[in-house]
Amino acid sequence: MDLMERFSNAGVVPVVVLEDAGQALSTARALLAGGIDVMEITFRTDAARDAIQIVAEQCPDMLVGAGTVCSVEQCRQAAEAGARFIVSPGFDPCVVDWCLEHELTVLPGCVTPSEIMEALSRGISTVKFFPASIYGGLEAMKALSGPFVGLQFVPTGGINAANLAEYAKAPFVRAVGGSWLCSRSDIAQGRFEHITELCRQAKNILAGL
Ligand code: 3PG
Repeated sequence: MDLMERFSNAGVVPVVVLEDAGQALSTARALLAGGIDVMEITFRTDAARDAIQIVAEQCPDMLVGAGTVCSVEQCRQAAEAGARFIVSPGFDPCVVDWCLEHELTVLPGCVTPSEIMEALSRGISTVKFFPASIYGGLEAMKALSGPFVGLQFVPTGGINAANLAEYAKAPFVRAVGGSWLCSRSDIAQGRFEHITELCRQAKNILAGL
């Protein structure tokens, strides 16, 4: 199964912020227990590189990628650690081209026609749409799908159990991303069962579509 199929099958991609790489494995296992086998570990903390490496090495069932990647140096670190994909909040040609040169799947953030055209010209047909709720949400993605036939979005930003269904059922949405499934406080306080519960809830919502 290719990576994009894994995204589609998962339906949701948890955006994970880890303060301590020691919590990476428990977080990954909690997500898997809830039926979600894709996770994006963000470069918002110094723990990101090690956390990715731990999950890549010790949790083979999890498709782990790096998120909030804003520089080529972070791409390098993520790739060395074993990240299978790169997610960036915006479109940085240096980041995108580095990933393509290294055959690493990349989801750049694209919210304008010009950014989308930059992605398409490089053969990228799935992009992140962030922050979705601010940039027009479903209405904006639907409008963009007019000229950009076949383009798929991974919207994030402001998505949670309450609006997951409306986003996920749109034909131009490959998967939905968000941090609601594993909050910093749940991770910090070791509430891994709550993470599993939220994942199960999300999977149930997706199953009902
Ligand atoms: C991201 O990087 O994709 C967002 O921070 C996720 O947004 P959320 O916290 O509103 O889910």
